[in-house]
This record gives sequence, C-alpha cells and structure tokens, in this order.
Amino acid sequence: MCGIVAYVGQKDAYPILINGLRRLEYRGYDSAGVALLTDQINLYKCRGKVADLEEYIADKNTGGTIGIAHTRWATHGEPNDENAHPHFSRDRDIALIHNGIIENYAVLKKELVSRGYVFQSNTDTEVLVHLIEDIRENENVELDEAVRIALTQVEGTYAIVVISKNHPDSLIAARNGSPLVIGVGEGEYYVASDGAPLVEYTKNVIYLDNEDIAYISLKDDIKIKSINNIERTPYIDQLEMSITQLEKGGFEHFMLKEIYEQPKSIADSMRGRLNVAKEIVSLGGIIEYEEKMLNAPRFTMVACGTSWHACLVGEYIFEELVRIPVEVEYASEFRYRNPIINEKDIVIAISQSGETADTLAAIGLAKENGATVIGICNVVGSSIARATHAGSYTHAGPEIGVASTKAFTAQVTLLLLMALSLAKKKGTISRSRYHEIIIALENIPRQIEEVLSHEKLIKEIADRFSDAKNFLYLGRGYNFPVALEGALKLKEISYIHAEGYPAAEMKHGPIALIDEEMPVVVIATNKGTYDKVVSNIQEVKARKGKIIAIVTKGDETVKSLADYVIEIPETEEMLVPLLATVPLQLLSYHIALNRGCNVDQPRNLAKSVTVE
Ligand code: M6R
Repeated sequence: MCGIVAYVGQKDAYPILINGLRRLEYRGYDSAGVALLTDQINLYKCRGKVADLEEYIADKNTGGTIGIAHTRWATHGEPNDENAHPHFSRDRDIALIHNGIIENYAVLKKELVSRGYVFQSNTDTEVLVHLIEDIRENENVELDEAVRIALTQVEGTYAIVVISKNHPDSLIAARNGSPLVIGVGEGEYYVASDGAPLVEYTKNVIYLDNEDIAYISLKDDIKIKSINNIERTPYIDQLEMSITQLEKGGFEHFMLKEIYEQPKSIADSMRGRLNVAKEIVSLGGIIEYEEKMLNAPRFTMVACGTSWHACLVGEYIFEELVRIPVEVEYASEFRYRNPIINEKDIVIAISQSGETADTLAAIGLAKENGATVIGICNVVGSSIARATHAGSYTHAGPEIGVASTKAFTAQVTLLLLMALSLAKKKGTISRSRYHEIIIALENIPRQIEEVLSHEKLIKEIADRFSDAKNFLYLGRGYNFPVALEGALKLKEISYIHAEGYPAAEMKHGPIALIDEEMPVVVIATNKGTYDKVVSNIQEVKARKGKIIAIVTKGDETVKSLADYVIEIPETEEMLVPLLATVPLQLLSYHIALNRGCNVDQPRNLAKSVTVE
C-alpha cells in the first residue's frame, strides 16, 4: 500500500529518495514525505503526489547522505500534510516511516497521551515513534533496543525504517507482514518496499523476513536479528528486474505499455516450460509436489480482485482437464470463516504482487490446517512466494499500472500449464487433445498482437460510450470471468459503474436495467454456449440495449445483431480468456482517458493491498 525508501551512504540521499518514491508511487499516492539527516533532521511532507512534494521541497535544504522517504495510501487518518509520513518523535531526534497497520494503536496512544505525548497526526504510525522514544528514555536503552522492545508491544503489520539524529550513519529497518528489501551497494545501503527503487544502484538484495529487524550501519555493516533478539546471517539474493521494465518506454501510461506487453509477457511465462516439438509442459517449481497434487481430493484457489478472476478461469480449466474438483474463494472470506481444509488439500494462492494481506492470511490458515500451498506470483521474492510450499512465478515483468492487465493473462497461462502437466500425468487428457491445446497456446502471443491491432476501432467505441453511467458485461463458461474482469477494469479506472454477469443470469434481475442508454458488452465467441449467448444478445436488443460484442473472427450472426463488434482470432475455448480480455482492457483504458481519469493511479486504489 504505502511505499518506503531509505538510503545511507556517501551520496546525496535526496535524489535517490525522490527517484525511489517516483518508482514506488504506484503503491500509494495520497501524500508523500522525506526526512534527511544532517546535523538535524529536516522533515518535509505534504498531501498529494511525489511531484507535489518535489515542488514543495524545491527551495528547501535537501542536504544529507542519510534519509527516509514515504508515499502513502491512507488507512488511519485522511490524506493531509499532518498524516503524511515521516513522523517525528517529541524531541525530533527520531523520524520514522511505516507501511502497515498498528492494530492496537488506540490502547498505546491512550497510554502515551496520559504520559504527556502530544500527537500531531491521526495516524496509527505516530504511536510507534513516540513509543520508541518513551522506551528509550524510560528504560534507558539504546535506540536499537528501544525499537525492538517497541515492536514487541505492537499488534498488526509493519514495515518501518527509523533514523535518529544521534546515529548519523545508521538505519533501522523492520518488517512484519509488510514487505521490505535491503539493497547492498559499495559502502552504501538502500531499503525499499520492493526492488524498483534499488535496481539502478544494485542488484544485491536481502529480503527481510517477518519479525526481522535490520540494524544497518556504515561502520558495522548489517546485523539482522529477530524481534526476540536472535541473530541470523543475511542472505544476499539477486534482484530480477531491469530499469527499462520500470519505464514507460514511449507509451503514455504504464497500463497501455503493459497491455501491449502481453504477447511478450505470455511468451515469457511459457519460456522453458512449454516445448511443443517435444510435447512437454513442465513447471519446475511444482514438480516435487505434482504427485501430491494428483492425489488431492480437491483444489482450493484463493486470491483477490483480478487474481481471483484468474482463479475462476483456473477452476474451469482444472475441472475440464485434470478432473479434480476446484473451489474458488476470495482470500478475504476464506480466512475469516472456518473452511474445511486438511492435510490432503491443495490450496493454490494467486497474486501479482505477492503481498496481498488477505491472500497471505489465507495461506497461513491453509498451512495451519496442514494443506499444501502452491503459489502463483509475479513478484520474485515476495511474501506470498516465500510463504508457500512451492510454486511458479508468472515472469510477466513488473506491473506498475494499478489496474492489473498482463499479470492476469500470465496467471491464466500458468494455470493452463499447470493443468496440462497434471492432466497428462493423470491420464485425463488424450494425446491429441493435449497436442491441440499446446499448439493453440503457443500461438497466443501472435494472436494477441492481432487483437491489439484493433485499438483504433476500440477507441472509437470508447469515444461513443465514455459518458455512459453504467455498463453491463456478459459472458458464459470461460467468458464469465472475462466479463467480471472487463467490468472491474472499467470500474477501477473510469469510475463508471459496471457489473459482470453470467449471461444467462441476466434474466434473473439485471435485465431490468436495460434500456437504450445501457451499453452491454457481450463476450460471444463461437464455442461452448455460443447459441445461448446469441439468444441473450437478442434479449438485450429487444430492450434497446447497445451491444458491444467480442466475437470470433468471421462471425456473421452476432455481427448482424450487435451495434459494435471486436473480432478476436479463433482459438481453443479454454484459451479465449487470454484473447478476449485484451480488447476489454483497451476499452476501459480509452474510456478512462476520455473521462480525464488518472489511468495508472486511480483514486482510492493502491497496487498492492498489504492491509486487510
Ligand atoms: O497483487 P494481487 O494480485 O494479490 O492483487 C489483488 C488485487 O488487489 C488486484 O488484482 C486488484 O483487484 C487490481 N487493482 C485489479 O486491477
């Protein structure tokens, strides 16, 4: 949710921090701030975007070779200057940034207020900085010990970085539930919520684990201890990311770039895993667990948002190919009910960011009940990737636009590969069918190029419907999750109300909404329940709804009924979501653009939802 970046070394900290904030802004963008250490701590923060912060700081002293910076997505306290991070201790000796939620902040705050602390903000975070100061003074301990003791009193999630005037060459960083990675340079260290701010300086990184506290000092290197004071040897990983992946590369928005990257990102997801000539589909990350998966009574797929839509496609694919029952659960529901899960169960957790708090908690619950958890994540080294027993990365590359696009198609690709591999081993797929599907899969990147070539037409449709108040998206079978995903894309970036429905359900309620003002997007590709969907289109037409149809190339029937058609190439039915989602992404993009919305950073949203 929030983005954290910190630096200690010999260079000027400010440009590194601001640059880092720009790279992290997709995580939260309602306010931002920076604290720089010289002979005192200079702290600047304001409501708004990183650009607003830069403007605000333009005439200020930005000296210092150590500093912390933050971009916020508000949880406690509205987005304003006071609630922006960093937060100061009472004596202004300590400054702190935080990502997460301190759940017992009210109790802690009451206690601190009774001891004379005056709060400047309404945030939960400010409690922590006063608590650290209080412990340091009253228990007469050094700052590092005060931070550790304070964290033992905190309930909730956090990633924090602390600087102090009295420790001019040190950073203290800690995490529990919110991600934090340390970049190790030559005589310098970086700390960030993810690898994006680090990649242009170093590829050597240390991922902090939950309840780790890192004491980073130019004099003494890095020491990592648990909250219980047990030291562990830091392990240096290599960051798998490049700067070009983090830039717009000539596109107006990250979202558009990421939509256009799909031929490549899907090819990358399949690379080394699909060999059509040898008829091999193999996911190295799960090989050891495939036997167990094949003996499972069922799979439970858990995720949130767009990743949950990928699970729905996965349910249809797995049940068709592997013939093992699948249940799809919102992670946020699964974790709070009492699901029947035991040691024979396989839980598949899907997440682009690998940091979604509800999905992480669902994994925790599944593990407590003895289930084996398989992850499908995009961000390498993320919390979910590390919390699962095994899994596969989607390798779609960094997704910066808040609206998920290429991550979705990569997730569906991974689910297909997984199902194909399992089905072949289980003998639930014939050789010829297997062959047909993998050939079709290999063609998908090229076919997406073809879909992308319809952007001009899609823009014209967007121009026609940009003022609509509501949209309905309909699809059946594999196209039902596509309808849900199309509606979600439109809602989140254009703020138009949209609903996705299984087409046949329309007559059980939503049909009442249809009039000449209502655009209805129907995914009407020529397989499965095509005839039934054509009937649904007739029903919409009879009520004067405006029909935008996604059809298989060459379709004449729907063309004669619909107001607009967008063609996608012919493919296997289970692969249609990989193609049909793309025009819907473009449609939402152009509608949002026409409405003057901030496509990459839609209001109220953040890229990774690390709070419940
Ligand atoms: O990182 P995750 O895949 O776990 O994120 C899940 C959802 O927060 C995410 O898909 C969200 O719905 C997107 N904004 C959709 O575009």
